[in-house]
Amino acid sequence: MSQLPNSPPLISPSILSADFARLGGEIRAIDAAGADWIHVDVMDGHFVPNLTIGPAVVKALRPHSAKPFDVHLMIAPVDPFLAAFADAGADIITFHPEAGPHAHRTVLAIKALGVKAGISLNPGTPAKMLDYLIDNIDLVLVMSVNPGFGGQSFIPSQLEKIAAVRRMIDKSGRDIRLEVDGGIDAAIARQCVAAGADVLVAGTAAFRGGVDHYAANIAALRGAS
Ligand code: DX5
Ligand code: ZN
Repeated sequence: MSQLPNSPPLISPSILSADFARLGGEIRAIDAAGADWIHVDVMDGHFVPNLTIGPAVVKALRPHSAKPFDVHLMIAPVDPFLAAFADAGADIITFHPEAGPHAHRTVLAIKALGVKAGISLNPGTPAKMLDYLIDNIDLVLVMSVNPGFGGQSFIPSQLEKIAAVRRMIDKSGRDIRLEVDGGIDAAIARQCVAAGADVLVAGTAAFRGGVDHYAANIAALRGAS
C-alpha cells in the first residue's frame, strides 16, 4: 500500500456526508469523480453518540464500486462484527483500541479474515498506543475530530500526532498507510500531508455542492487544483 515520496495523498470520501436516500448512486458518482477509496463510517450509539449503518448496507453497496472499501468501525464491542463486515466486502477494517481491552487480538482477528487492519486513535489518545500493535497493522487512522459526527472542526493538535505516527511508521520499515479523518478541507489537507499523512478522509468537503462538484472537490483535496 506504500506510495512514492511526494506523491499526492489518496482521497477516501466519507459517505456519511452523502445522500443516504440514494447511497448506491452517490458511491458511483464519487468513484467516477476520482475517489481512491470509499470511507464507510459505522457508528453504534454506544462507543460514539450516533447511529449509522451496518454490514447489510455495506454488502448492498459493494457492487456499486470496485474501489477499496475503507470501513471505520466506531463500535464496542468490535470482535463479534468483524466477520460480517469482511463478508460484506470490506477491504480495510479500522477500529478503535479505546473501544475494548484486546486491541492486539482484534488486529489478528481482522488479518485472519484476509482483510487489512487499521488502528484509529481518538484525539485524546497518544501515538504511543501503537507501540505494540505496529508490527501487525496496515493502517493508522488519526482522528482529527472526536468521532461521531461529520462537519466538525479540525483539531490542530493532531498535526503533531500525525508527525509522531509518521516517525513511528518510518522507523518500523513496514508498509503502513497514515490516514487522517475529520474536519479536512483543501487547506488543512496540505498541512496533514506536510505532517506525513498519505490518505485523507473527507465527508463535508468531498460531497459539498452536489454531484457536479465532486471531481473538483476531490482534486482540491488532493492538492491538484
Ligand atoms: C467522524 C467520521 C468522519 C467524518 C468526516 O466520526 O469518522 O469520517 O464523517 O466528516 P467531515 O469531513 O465532515 O469531518
Ligand atoms: Zn471515519
